[in-house]
Amino acid sequence: MRRILVTSALPYANGAIHLGHLFEHVQTDIWVRFQRMMGNECTYVCADDAHGTATMLLAEREGVTPEALIERLRGEHETDFKRFHISHDNYHSTHSPENERYSSLIYTRLAERGYTFTREVEQLYDPERGLFLADRHVRGTCPRCGAADQPGDNCDVCGATYDAVDLGDPRSVLSDAAPELRRSEHHFVDLAKFESFLREWTASDAVQPEVTNKLAEWLDGGLKAWDISRDEPYFGFPIPGAPGKFFYVWMDAPVGYMASFANLCERTEGLDFDDFWRPDSDAEVHHVIGKDIVNFHCLFWPAVLSQSGFRTPTRVHVHGFITVDGARMSKSRGTFINAATYLDHLDPEYLRYYFATKMAANTDDMDINLDDFVQRVNSDLVGKVVNIASRCAGFIGKNFGGTLTERIHDEALWREVSEARHGLAELFERGDVGRAVREITALADRANRHIAAHEPWKAVRDPERQDEAHEVCSLGINVFRALAVYLKPILPAMAERAEAFLGVAPLAWEDAAEPLCGHGIEAFQPLFQRMDRKALGRVVEATRAEAKETAPPASAADEKASDSDTISIDEFLKVDLRVARIAAAAPVAGADKLLELTLDVGDHQRRVFSGIKSAYDAADLVGRHTVVVANLAPRKMRFGTSEGMVLAAGEGDKEIFLLAPDPGAKPGMVVR
Ligand code: MSP
Ligand code: ZN
Repeated sequence: MRRILVTSALPYANGAIHLGHLFEHVQTDIWVRFQRMMGNECTYVCADDAHGTATMLLAEREGVTPEALIERLRGEHETDFKRFHISHDNYHSTHSPENERYSSLIYTRLAERGYTFTREVEQLYDPERGLFLADRHVRGTCPRCGAADQPGDNCDVCGATYDAVDLGDPRSVLSDAAPELRRSEHHFVDLAKFESFLREWTASDAVQPEVTNKLAEWLDGGLKAWDISRDEPYFGFPIPGAPGKFFYVWMDAPVGYMASFANLCERTEGLDFDDFWRPDSDAEVHHVIGKDIVNFHCLFWPAVLSQSGFRTPTRVHVHGFITVDGARMSKSRGTFINAATYLDHLDPEYLRYYFATKMAANTDDMDINLDDFVQRVNSDLVGKVVNIASRCAGFIGKNFGGTLTERIHDEALWREVSEARHGLAELFERGDVGRAVREITALADRANRHIAAHEPWKAVRDPERQDEAHEVCSLGINVFRALAVYLKPILPAMAERAEAFLGVAPLAWEDAAEPLCGHGIEAFQPLFQRMDRKALGRVVEATRAEAKETAPPASAADEKASDSDTISIDEFLKVDLRVARIAAAAPVAGADKLLELTLDVGDHQRRVFSGIKSAYDAADLVGRHTVVVANLAPRKMRFGTSEGMVLAAGEGDKEIFLLAPDPGAKPGMVVR
């Protein structure tokens, strides 16, 4: 028996649980429930991520203490998750005594072993509010073009990037006061010291291969020291021995996993903290996270654990982001759907099922298409799987005394369904749940064809075909039971209704190994209603209405960005477009489509690989001007590293047209 501790990322305590959080918790919950059905001991903990400036400012706006705010949200979050059948064993808060204890312990051990240092940092300070300002809380005059009222990190007008301290006439967004320049000492974790450990750890099977590649890019770029302190006032834990300094929220957040587990251990017989967290523990620790927080979980967290006397994670499972109807979730379009809004109108298991069809072991983004959602639930889940039970159970009850036959009507069909448990278990284990669902649906198709071919609804009326009708329906019920086993991690409430009607104990994975023979079943209860497209429409409407009610928070640059299918000028200006002169161009040995371009971008040259060989001869390109995305992260390719991307229009093949500026544009010029 494996002993496994599983976590989902800790939702911030400054907003409601929405579809994105739900996707992650459903994915985690499916894995956890699967492990439990396999007979493993699997504990699932989570918590709210309570600390930080955002919590502090929100509490202030609401006129409550941060403690009151986070307690209210923790309760709401816990309720939302329960209603979605998420089987957390503990839902704690990072603002807890356990977390303070472990955060301080970890920090102290790192400090004692020489992995931390302090350094003075110069920052803008709001004298009226009495706090240091993050970039997003400052505006002023662009040091390059002189445009007024520009953000603290880059200019909306000319695109310059700068430090907030270089703005002319700066203002605090929080108070409109003129900020002062203040120096303050910050505490850092010296990440560079962990490089060789991290190179090894990130290449192990603790992370998916594509994540290993991403991490290698970061490691190649060099590890900067990690700033883990914030000055008071800050809602967080004081750093031991450093008056006025607090742990940055991302320092104590992952420790919140341990703290939630410690809190559970204190009140659970036989669950021992050290047994899971000591360095040589043979228990497993799994984290499920979205791809936006990979650096925290696959660099900082294992590094910190490795030198503070604890074990590192067994595996970090990274998933992609969900979009709705092809776009980022948006309040105005009614697709930024909160858990509570959904639950007002629809059964949580519809969504669990649909999410499951989208889950894969990779980090690709997944689109939630509202029409497809209704279609999949109604035609596959209700129309295929549940249909097997509903078409067979009635006859068993009415015509055959509620008892299944001793004989299996079609051994081959039963074996196929039963043997599928091995392959399906592998798919669940590695998170390929979408494929598992497709295979389960295919088994349902087979069973439905078998039933249709024997037409039990006719056979029951023919005295000579009574045994056949009884056997076919009994096989149907047995197939349904096996499929209920396979779907149980996804649909626990449906499985419970099935267990009641089948008259069986809670289903475990191995129950699919043997059929029920000569077994009495209860009267059939409908297991699932068809999903009503109109109810989904009401969810979207209600979400739109909420968006109108809630005034946008004062400083919500981040939320604004995630709440729209347009991008802000700030986001656009992050793309550094430059005029480039093609100084040299050459085909790449071993690559059919690529040309290697040497670009002159004014003050330096760079190499870019471009898939334009089908449309251009290398020799014709030399001396031409084009446009390059100059701040694209370098990408390692088989042939070397590509440092940017040239822009072209067209469909591909011969239809590729390189963008070119009008004559006169000089290499290095900014393109806007
Ligand atoms: N508080 C941090 C996590 C700390 S873990 C020690 C945080 N919170 S969050 O509320 O912003 O996000 C929580 C999780 O939800 C993250 O794993 C994030 O990737 C996930 N998702 C948020 N929006 C999402 C989608 N649209 N799609 C899928 N998952 C997304 O980050
Ligand atoms: Zn400017």
